[in-house]
Amino acid sequence: MKTITKYLCVFLFILFTSNEILAQESTWKAPESANDLKNPFSGNTLAANKGKMIFRQTCVLCHGMKGDGTGGGGVSLNPKPANFLSKRVKDESDGALFWKMSQGNPPMASYKDIFSEDQRWQLVTYIRVLENQQ
Ligand code: HEC
Repeated sequence: MKTITKYLCVFLFILFTSNEILAQESTWKAPESANDLKNPFSGNTLAANKGKMIFRQTCVLCHGMKGDGTGGGGVSLNPKPANFLSKRVKDESDGALFWKMSQGNPPMASYKDIFSEDQRWQLVTYIRVLENQQ
């Protein structure tokens, strides 16, 4: 094999594997004060259904239909889109999830100017019942 081809192979190998190697478990934390935010729709089915409609239009791209973080648009992102079915996210308070989707953290956008406060709480309410949806 010509030297240049060898270098090219090594380069391509590093290019394709680096994203996996560098992908880290999220260290994104909401401030303690976010835990005090109360979800006005907690357990409300109508609100969850409204959240589902927004989720299907906007969030599935990265977080996937099941919310497990496997949406096609998130494959090459680092950190990976959150898996809402994971213990880590389940252990987060509603307020922390609300705070995170409001603030965003690249590559995840900030949604506070895109969705109203009610809509963001509807999304949180939907994330809480995602598991029972499919
Ligand atoms: C462009 C891809 C993308 C889209 C679209 C997207 N997200 Fe995310 N989301 C991410 C990534 C990446 C993370 C992880 C960020 C991190 O850990 O630093 C994340 C993390 C989150 C978290 C934090 C979970 C946790 O506890 O760590 C919430 C909540 C969230 N997203 C909600 C949403 C909602 C709701 C929508 C739709 C309105 C949405 N996301 C759309 C990429 C996306």
